Amino acid sequence: MAVGVFDSGLGGLTVHQALVRRLPDVPFVYYGDNAHAPYGTRTADDIFALTCAGVERLWAEGCDLVILACNTASAAALRRMQETWVPADKRVLGVFVPLIEALTERQWGDNSPPREVDVKHVALFATPATVSSRAFQRELAFRAIGVDVEAQPCGGVVDAIEAGDEMLAEALVRSHVEALKRRMPHPQAAILGCTHYPLLEKVFAEALGPGVKVYSQANLVAESLADYLTRRPGFVGPGREAKFLTTGDARAVSDRATQFLRQRITFEAA
Ligand code: DGL
Repeated sequence: MAVGVFDSGLGGLTVHQALVRRLPDVPFVYYGDNAHAPYGTRTADDIFALTCAGVERLWAEGCDLVILACNTASAAALRRMQETWVPADKRVLGVFVPLIEALTERQWGDNSPPREVDVKHVALFATPATVSSRAFQRELAFRAIGVDVEAQPCGGVVDAIEAGDEMLAEALVRSHVEALKRRMPHPQAAILGCTHYPLLEKVFAEALGPGVKVYSQANLVAESLADYLTRRPGFVGPGREAKFLTTGDARAVSDRATQFLRQRITFEAA
């Protein structure tokens, strides 16, 4: 009864941690495509091909349901995967919708028409590919009206995290927040629209200043998956063993995961 968790690298571990806390009896198989990270500067075709390869590997581990714990893959590839590629007995779910449901104060899976919501000025921090896909704005428009979104493509942050360079990652976050605030001085809410960014959530929050509500996906995705599995228990696949797989160098990836998550995580070769 395993569920798969996919990311281009280490970022999905922020979601994985929340999933394990929320659903302790479910074995999660994590797949980090560290050999090909970052995805955020790749083309949509490239992201589609890499994401399909990772999801197939998770299906082979007995995970009939895979969470794309990667906004870039969710934005650039998920719709095409669902429409053209995922067979009827499997599911691939993204991380955008739970976040937008929370931002727009909806119940999980509430598909009623868009309506006015309290939050009017939203800062979105995401990878260049996620920002240029406009997938966040599209999903938001299905659910809310009158929300002004200012998006900042945060080039370099994922690369610095994947390279284990915390100081560079922090400096880049501060400069991206400053750049956004020049265009939107007083956001009410900020979305960390890349699963790597919660690893630096404190730096984002400090740079944004008090009074800005920072949304990150981990707990929201965990709640929404728990709700999904209650409604569709059949999608917990036959796999039994929790594990961490990487396309990168397993030892180096384990060390960097341990550095950022502050707990020992051991990857094996995918
Ligand atoms: N964690 C991925 C995301 O949420 C990072 C993408 C990348 O590899 O650039 O977008």
